[in-house]
This record gives sequence, C-alpha cells and structure tokens, in this order.
Amino acid sequence: MDHQAPPQVRVLDAADAAVPFLLQEVRALASGQESESNQRPLISFATGGTFTAFFRALDAEIKQGRITPTEFLGTHLDEYMGFEPERPGGMLHELSLRCPAMRDMLARGSFLPVPCHGAEGSLRAHEERIERAGGIKLQLLGIGRNGHIAFNEPGASLDEGFHVTTLAESTRVDAKARFVPDQPPRRAVTAGMKSILTAERIILCAFGADKAAAVTSMLQGEVNGTCPASALRMHKNALVLLDSAAASNLDAGAIAGAMH
Ligand code: PGA
Repeated sequence: MDHQAPPQVRVLDAADAAVPFLLQEVRALASGQESESNQRPLISFATGGTFTAFFRALDAEIKQGRITPTEFLGTHLDEYMGFEPERPGGMLHELSLRCPAMRDMLARGSFLPVPCHGAEGSLRAHEERIERAGGIKLQLLGIGRNGHIAFNEPGASLDEGFHVTTLAESTRVDAKARFVPDQPPRRAVTAGMKSILTAERIILCAFGADKAAAVTSMLQGEVNGTCPASALRMHKNALVLLDSAAASNLDAGAIAGAMH
C-alpha cells in the first residue's frame, strides 16, 4: 500500500445503476465464486443515504433466496459512541431496519458489530476477530462532503486502526435529521484508514452534487489526511462509482469509463 495507483472511476447514468453492480459483487463473494478458501468471506458494509437503495435491494435478494446470508460474514465501518444495535439513530440500527437479515446475522454471531463503547481492549479484539475471519474481502464506502471516510474526518491519521473520534461539525449537521429532536452525538467509534485499506477490494460510491468537491479532492488532490478519502489512491483494488453530479468537477482523464 506504499504506492499510488489511481482507483478505477466509473460514472453511472444514475445512482440506482450502482445497485445491481453491488449486488453482483456480494453475490459472487457469497457464492464462493471468488475464493478457493472454505472460510466464509467477510463483507464490511457502509451506512448512510448512499446505500439506502442497495440495502433494500439486498434485503429483497435475500428474501428471494438469490443471496444466502449464511454464506458470508458481515461487519460495518463505524458507530456512534454508546449506540447499541437497537438504539435508533445508530448505524447498526439503520442497517437492520433496511435489511433485517443483518439483525438475524448479528443474533447468530455472523455479523461483527463495531464495539460502540470504544474501550481500547474491545477495539483490538474487534480487529483480531476481523483478522481471524480472513480479513475483509469487500469494503463498501461512502464519502462525506468534507472528504471523510467512515468517521475519519479531515486531519485524521492515515495510519490508525479502530479508534474513538470526534465528529466534524459538518458531519454533525449532516446527521441532524436522524437524531431529531436530540442533537447528534459528538463522538463515534470508527475503522481507521489503516484498517480500511487492508480490505482486498474497496468500492466507494458517491452520488449528488454535494459530493463533487470531496470526490475531486479524493482523486486529484494531495494524498494526505486533509482529505482522508485520498488514501484510497494507496490501494491496489479500489473502484469509485459516481453519478454525473458527483463527477462534475473531475478532469476527464480521471474517469475510466461510463457504466450503463
Ligand atoms: P451519506 O454519508 O451516504 O449519508 O451521504 C456518507 C458519509 O458521510 O460517509
């Protein structure tokens, strides 16, 4: 990961076009097409509005038997501090609302929850569980307007594992609606950039004009913690899926191709 390799960048006709593509990636992993090992592949999901349509579709795929949840392990990127899985506003709560199979996986022990209280020992134990599961085969990512990845806010170290962090003000503003009438939390537990970059494959999705500046910094700015997403350029197998609004500030040369 000490080299720079531009992620593959594809511009979709519309954000929804990402859904069948992402489902196919999950299906291929879950059905074992991608692996010679007997271990179930670990998929790390991202939450947030970017993935709402994907989770609904994943739920439907599971209900119709086209993806079998016992064939893969799941985990996620981050959690608001102290938010147990059943607490509204939390990431895991959101995930299980949109895709109830995730709740069943959690109950069966095949979904690894981010330790939401952030105790140091629990974070290291979580990393060890990920490692024992064979590492993350597929990491899905969104991006914040400010270039954050998970809760690695601008200024974050690119060399950290799971840790407790303080949310940027713009992140709290963006999260406001999910906590009304309360204020968004100030702290969260997050996968660090070092943990994220260990995934075998990364797919980042960004849709809408609000993400255009962050996408440009990620792909064309300096690689450093000012835009944590820029660290994806140190990964060998990263794919960025954009809609045309999110891609609108990019130089044409940064784009590998359109996807229909
Ligand atoms: P969003 O969040 O999918 O709700 O836009 C992405 C993020 O902040 O990482």
